[in-house]
Amino acid sequence: MKVTIVGAGNVGATCADVISYRGIASEVVLLDIKEGFAEGKALDITQCATNTGFNTRVSGVTNDYSKTAGSDVVVITSGIPRKPGMTREELIGINAGIVKTVAENVLKYSPNTIIVVVSNPMDTMTYLALKATGLPKNRIIGMGGALDSSRFRTYLSLALDKPANDISAMVIGGHGDTTMIPLTRLASYNGIPVSQFLSEEVLQKVAADTMVGGATLTGLLGTSAWYAPGASVAYLVDSILNDQKKMIACSVFVEGEYGQNDICIGVPCIIGKNGVEEIVDIKLNDQEKALFAKSADAVRSMNDALKT
Ligand code: NAI
Repeated sequence: MKVTIVGAGNVGATCADVISYRGIASEVVLLDIKEGFAEGKALDITQCATNTGFNTRVSGVTNDYSKTAGSDVVVITSGIPRKPGMTREELIGINAGIVKTVAENVLKYSPNTIIVVVSNPMDTMTYLALKATGLPKNRIIGMGGALDSSRFRTYLSLALDKPANDISAMVIGGHGDTTMIPLTRLASYNGIPVSQFLSEEVLQKVAADTMVGGATLTGLLGTSAWYAPGASVAYLVDSILNDQKKMIACSVFVEGEYGQNDICIGVPCIIGKNGVEEIVDIKLNDQEKALFAKSADAVRSMNDALKT
């Protein structure tokens, strides 16, 4: 199984690293426009093989798409990241041009690939990739919910003082500080609703911390995060390549689901070898429905910026 990652920067290289050492794919190609950069990252990762014990073949190329031919999955991380104080939305102008060109280039050599979009503002970039390529909607997946949900589970684990892996929780809606919706009502610890253990006040604090989870890290690091984003992409790619059919919140094109049309937005999806196998319809309460509608409006108005 072959994965191409476009953009060998912080997120792209971390993703390549996790995919390799977890043996998720047999081959990873890193591609970047910066001369020699992807080659360097690939060589560095390859030199981990003997000490971490993996056999994945990792290579890097400078803008040569022919080397990406026959990829089962292509991950697009190319673009600029946030700086402190910036919103994801402020990246739209530059990243739109990059994502469109990259999506068109990868399809020339991997016409059957599934594309995972990471570049921000991710919901809009996913929509752009879908419209620019004309691919069926199951083959364009935006990664945001996997990361936001893992941040949500982390903050819940800190509040509960219990392992994050024992906590099940999901974030849906847009991948923005004000548009994401941590589903506190449905979060559980070993099958027990977390509301049994945490007060409403604490739950609201956890939700608020989750929503600004990315901004908090941008403030601390001076640029956006990469370990959790890279691992979240690898988690999603694993479910595709190994047909795991995990339920993961992903930004996908909706046609009536959750009352929305003609946008890509985070909804629970079954992810397998065909990409989006199914959009799962969970019953939201009235408050959650209202939040989702508001989030969809924000994503839609962000997409309008593509027209200008
Ligand atoms: P970075 O700056 O470390 O890496 C971006 C890489 O893209 C650079 O190496 C650059 O040379 C390359 N690049 C730029 N234009 C290119 C082109 N036309 N073709 C090939 N490569 C190109 O940035 P980082 O931190 O890796 O973030 C990448 C993107 O992912 C940003 O837009 C960021 O906002 C987004 N992001 C999204 C997340 C999500 O949950 N969806 C989480 C974290 C970051």
